[in-house]
Amino acid sequence: MPRRDKGGHDKGDKGAWATTLIITMSKPEQIDLDKLEQELLAAIEAAADLRALEQIRVGAVGKKGRISGLMKGLGALPPEQRKTYGQAVNALKAKVMEALEARKEALAQAELDARLAAENADISLPVRPAPLLEGRLHPISQVMDELTEIFADLGFSIAEGPDIEDDFHNFTALNIPPEHPARQEHDTFYFNERQDGSRLVLRTHTSPVQIRTMMSTKPPIRIIAPGRVYRCDSDQTHTPMFHQVEGLVIDQETHLGHLKWVLQEFCKAFFEVDSVKMRFRASHFPFTEPSLEVDIGYAKQGNEIRIGEGDQWLEILGCGMVHPNVLKNVGLDPAQYQGFAFGVGIDRLAMLKYGMPDLRAFFAADLRWLKHYGFSMLDVPTLSGGVGA
Ligand code: DAH
Repeated sequence: MPRRDKGGHDKGDKGAWATTLIITMSKPEQIDLDKLEQELLAAIEAAADLRALEQIRVGAVGKKGRISGLMKGLGALPPEQRKTYGQAVNALKAKVMEALEARKEALAQAELDARLAAENADISLPVRPAPLLEGRLHPISQVMDELTEIFADLGFSIAEGPDIEDDFHNFTALNIPPEHPARQEHDTFYFNERQDGSRLVLRTHTSPVQIRTMMSTKPPIRIIAPGRVYRCDSDQTHTPMFHQVEGLVIDQETHLGHLKWVLQEFCKAFFEVDSVKMRFRASHFPFTEPSLEVDIGYAKQGNEIRIGEGDQWLEILGCGMVHPNVLKNVGLDPAQYQGFAFGVGIDRLAMLKYGMPDLRAFFAADLRWLKHYGFSMLDVPTLSGGVGA
């Protein structure tokens, strides 16, 4: 049969000449089946992935594909050509289908291999540290957790109050009336005057939480209130914001012995020692009567402070029996109820227990400091395990 392709045929492919067919269709168009076969097989072989292969399949044997088009054109051929040509198109279709199938399998296998290689985990690699283990709890948070654990064990619950307070809760109700000299000692941060002339303050101590608790809860009351407090003061041992924990117990037969016992138990548990030397000194706070300050005994060995030993004294807290005026201010009858209160500087406790010399470093947000002094999230303080980390 004469051959009139437009060149580009592989001259080395002798066998292809024998099967070359040239057909004339209704819209005269010459189709070289050999060439089409080579083209399709090459495209199938070159298909990079299953999607590309599918496109080739649709283009060849899909409804509007090239081979399907040839099939449809068969009817237009003279009968003598129809048979041979039909068989050749069918053979081409079978070959292409076979090649498609083979390539599909190869690609699917390659895709699976690639996925297996990518998802392969090298179990000999060291375990990457989990973010939870990398992060550190600030010593203040740690000490607050320790305090909570110790006092919860003694039957106390946690109370909270706002950082922005009014004059009544921060001062007046605590038996610090206007013009009282104690107000000057507090280095208070005041807000601008409100319309009625009053000024809100950043609370200068956690004691206003006593007032809020007594006004909202019926005795018996046993609470601690840890939180931030603010004073306009800054040097190596003072920062404008620091932390306190307030304690309050109100009941019908509460006395100084209870206060002493609670504080002793607290110090032993917190400093993790079997006995602590404590000294109760007479003092003055407007909201307690009598008022006491508590020192604990310590010994200094080199740079280390040992709590519970030695003959040096360190002041750690203020306390006393709640003043009858305070009880009256919150509507409690001092003839029926008494109680005790105490206030401790948390930052001070943390510095003492964990040997941190400069308070300002607490709030400098230096990650190196936090890595050194911080605590692992998983070191949850428990009394059974010793509250410290
Ligand atoms: N509020 C006091 C202060 O900030 C500390 C304090 C002393 C609290 C005696 C108390 C207390 O509850 O009874 O200096």
